[in-house]
Amino acid sequence: MKIGVLTSGGDAPGMNAAIRAVVRQADALGHEAWGIHRGYQGLLEGDMEPMPSRACANILQRGGTVLHTARCAEFHQPEQRAIAAEHLKAAGIEALVVIGGDGSFRAAEVLQREHSVACAGIPGTIDNDLPGTERTLGFDTALNTAVEAIDRIRDTASSHGRLFLVEVMGRASGMLAVHTALACGAEAVLYPESPDDSFETLVSGLNASWLRGKRSSIVVVAEGDTAGRAMAVGERLKRDYALDLRVVVLGHIQRGGSPTAMDRIWGSRWGCEVVRRLDRGERGFYVGMVAGALVAQPLSRVLEPQPVPPGDLGRMVSVLAR
Ligand code: F6P
Repeated sequence: MKIGVLTSGGDAPGMNAAIRAVVRQADALGHEAWGIHRGYQGLLEGDMEPMPSRACANILQRGGTVLHTARCAEFHQPEQRAIAAEHLKAAGIEALVVIGGDGSFRAAEVLQREHSVACAGIPGTIDNDLPGTERTLGFDTALNTAVEAIDRIRDTASSHGRLFLVEVMGRASGMLAVHTALACGAEAVLYPESPDDSFETLVSGLNASWLRGKRSSIVVVAEGDTAGRAMAVGERLKRDYALDLRVVVLGHIQRGGSPTAMDRIWGSRWGCEVVRRLDRGERGFYVGMVAGALVAQPLSRVLEPQPVPPGDLGRMVSVLAR
């Protein structure tokens, strides 16, 4: 069997580990792996070639994706998906492994439904916002990168007695923000799924900590928070409360860098698992991790609501900042 593999959407550390595992497990089972470049965009253009085992030498420890990636709006059009299916057929590729986030999995789900392409997904996004899995490739690395950056910001915040608002990525999810805030001992975290009115809670929390004698604070702001992005929240705090503060947007720094051991291990495990399942004739699934165990579920599960950060974590951030 020829098995195509692509990475799609935002790159995430650990994607290379997954590519390597797909290619080498396929080889070990007597299949031929094909690398599709630039995600669905490359698939539309027929930009693909056989990927032998040796093409994966020395990629395990590298961030980004050696197959490159893209966000491909054209794939929403049925006639474009038909072209993609034709390219796969012409190359004799019978199964497609998609490494990406929810948008990439939705595209795979439609491709399989419309054109009977056997699809399998490996969760790859720093946002950790996929239903049916507690982990996605890149989350652990991005979390550690954000924490390391905030540890540095903490030094200057305490030297100047300043408030810093630090914006982290995550799109509509507060998963990265809440875990970052907990790991770096932030005074507060603003995130979209918060049960409280984030802004009002933030102001009263900052007042309380000022009265307790705290002169510097770190507030982690999820880019998707309903109060707005960190810059807007900062402007509002300056205007209404005359606070001396600085805003740092960590941005794409969070997406780069060498993957942590955990992202390499799960990229490897998931890559092997999807190929073993395709080899057994399974299709239309994506792998994940629940309670430490490797799981698989139907691709259609991606249409379910995204998971929310565990309810107590956000509150814990404020309690521990006392
Ligand atoms: O989905 C991953 C992610 O990094 C989000 O956290 C962020 O909102 C988005 O991608 C940024 O995308 P781009 O690199 O296309 O600007």
